[in-house]
Amino acid sequence: MTTLRGIVLAGGKGTRLGELTRVTNKHLLPVGPLPMVYYPLRKLIGAGIRDILLVSGTEHMGDFVELLGSGREHGCQLTYRVQDEAKGIAQALGLASLFAHGCRSAVILGDNIFYDPLRPLLEEADQHPDWAWVALKQVPDPGRYGVAELRGNQVVGIEEKPEKPKSDYAVAGIYIYPPDVFEVIKTLKPSARGELEITDVNRHYLLQGRLGYTMLSGYWTDAGTLESLALANRLVLEQPPRF
Ligand code: DAU
Repeated sequence: MTTLRGIVLAGGKGTRLGELTRVTNKHLLPVGPLPMVYYPLRKLIGAGIRDILLVSGTEHMGDFVELLGSGREHGCQLTYRVQDEAKGIAQALGLASLFAHGCRSAVILGDNIFYDPLRPLLEEADQHPDWAWVALKQVPDPGRYGVAELRGNQVVGIEEKPEKPKSDYAVAGIYIYPPDVFEVIKTLKPSARGELEITDVNRHYLLQGRLGYTMLSGYWTDAGTLESLALANRLVLEQPPRF
């Protein structure tokens, strides 16, 4: 089995949080008793992944290093990589190409807060090590997210923030990729919002018949808006996530 490397994407601008991110990074804000970035990190560590790369911008990289250090206190080995400009999730992931060379990658967006432990998802993905694997969750507002169209239990379409979503299954920010993901990223063109889109990566695997998914059973939310940050706080206090 190809080794699995962990990647936490904690760049981006955080503009939707207004004054809260004027002097800090979104992923350092509190969610319940912990800084937001602890959640994706602990999910990876809880699934037995020890080599983890954190990607963030220049502005607050020092704060991440101060908070997390080498990773020793958390039981992992951390590597840090700077994303000079927030040019998209797929662009940020592309920065992991040397770190994850020849390995599969377990990628979690730094603002995704969810209940389920990661290991069962990894075990499902392990059945198809050369596929990409995503996590889906039914939501009331799918137009805010990547949306997967399902027929039977197959993904047949995937769109980023569609105006008319074809389903209410959001694609969560939890992805497993085979080693060739970095070749796929090199072929991407920027979207209308000027970013390399992770949805285009996932669509590439879908078109090749190499996209699988796990349905999340517990809660899932991003924490990138004032409303969703408040929700994330409520959720983790009511029911602490399982790592
Ligand atoms: O939360 C899940 C959703 O995340 C998916 O359903 C969408 O398909 C995906 O595009 C993404 O949507 P958002 O527009 O909400 O992503 P956002 O720009 O808020 O970025 C999410 C995280 O990714 C953020 O916590 C930091 C990281 N990121 C983002 C960008 C644009 C980076 O590390 N670098 C970047 O350049």
